[in-house]
Amino acid sequence: MARTQVAIIGAGPSGLLLSQLLHLQGIDNVVLERQSREHVAGRIRAGVLEQGSVDVLLQAQVGERLLNERLVHDGFALGFAGRSFRVDLKGLTGEAVSVYGQTEITKDLTEARIAAGAKLFFDARDVAIGGIDTAHPTVRYAHGGRTQELSCDFIAGCDGYHGVCRRSVPAQAMQSFERIYPFGWLGIMADVPPVSQELIYSNHERGFALCSMRSARRSRYYLQCGLDEPLEAWPDARFWDELRRRLPPQVGETLITGASIEKSIAPLRSFVVEPMKFGRLFLLGDAAHIVPPTGAKGLNLAAADARMLHQALAHYYRTGSTESIDRYSELCLRRVWKAVRFSWWFTTLTHKFSEDPFSHRLQLAELDYLTGSRAALTSMAENYVGLPFGEPPLARSR
Ligand code: FAD
Ligand code: DHB
Repeated sequence: MARTQVAIIGAGPSGLLLSQLLHLQGIDNVVLERQSREHVAGRIRAGVLEQGSVDVLLQAQVGERLLNERLVHDGFALGFAGRSFRVDLKGLTGEAVSVYGQTEITKDLTEARIAAGAKLFFDARDVAIGGIDTAHPTVRYAHGGRTQELSCDFIAGCDGYHGVCRRSVPAQAMQSFERIYPFGWLGIMADVPPVSQELIYSNHERGFALCSMRSARRSRYYLQCGLDEPLEAWPDARFWDELRRRLPPQVGETLITGASIEKSIAPLRSFVVEPMKFGRLFLLGDAAHIVPPTGAKGLNLAAADARMLHQALAHYYRTGSTESIDRYSELCLRRVWKAVRFSWWFTTLTHKFSEDPFSHRLQLAELDYLTGSRAALTSMAENYVGLPFGEPPLARSR
């Protein structure tokens, strides 16, 4: 049976980043990904990085293209009541965010791992984990038409919300918390210049809209949509028309449209499992928690988990003490719940939940208060740019 120190299930951002960080600490690891490399590289998702995530990507030595190609945003706009208000992130917090696609991060990490000779297996099917409550966990999987077995010290479940790792934990050992939202996000990518140099989060009585981008020539736009609406109901012309209507008029007038190169619908949910560790299995990223995308926290939480776990495992392998890995869940969850709260709050502030005009008036009153109060804006901006990392495990005793 093959052996490694850490078996990582899933090659999304959390799995690849953890693999790279462990490698740099001299910790042997194997990554098993169910999908093909092309499939993983083609999945269009997040676009906004907190500075803390940029820092950890630099630490992982995959920041060169990021630093060259990212767009640094010092603020974003809130659209409501026919007007647009700029939230000055830099002025309020001293920090900015970076716009750089998740696809690019995944590409940079995959290339770095392969260049370093990583044991990274795409198309690994039927992954099954065992012995997680013993000192010798195992992973079984099918690859290249053969069943393979791997023994390891630890398993990192980086396999997303629908993965196998969380489902392998006895139900009574974890508690889950969930909120489903009664709408989804319809997203498109198009090679047209963005309508604005900064992002716009727009509250409108017809529903929420978000204007984002990937570069000066590539736009990423989202519309709140019904969960039962098929993609076919949204030809490009209808999307552009609806987006224009949901933006402040002076912004909508300048919208440049074009053929979409990608279009998809994503449901929205808040979800957390506690604890994020069972025996020798750790859960990271979307395997442990999901936030609605408003506020752009999902990828950033995944990066924070990878950072926390690699520090904890490095401490364990250096000293033999389990103290830091035992605190992994507690330290991650403090950050996770704050991001869950912020994403829930930002979603309730900007989306249409019902036809009830009273609810919409309350949203407008809150937006009016928020944009008139430096204290309220600072609180929002602090959460948006990312809360400080807590004390890393046992940092003081090093
Ligand atoms: P994933 O990216 O889901 O990766 C999990 C991997 O595990 C996948 O490659 C999957 O194929 C693999 N896998 C699953 N099951 C198995 C198995 N049984 N065996 C082996 N492999 C398996 N976040 C932000 O921070 N900012 C944003 O702007 C933002 N925008 C978003 C917009 C949209 C439309 C969506 C849908 C999400 C957005 N997010 C955003 C969230 C972000 O994309 C996720 O939080 C992030 O992808 C989580 O990374 P992960 O590695 O934990 O999980
Ligand atoms: C993007 C996604 C988000 O969820 C968000 O809040 C901001 C930007 C994006 O895909 O660009």
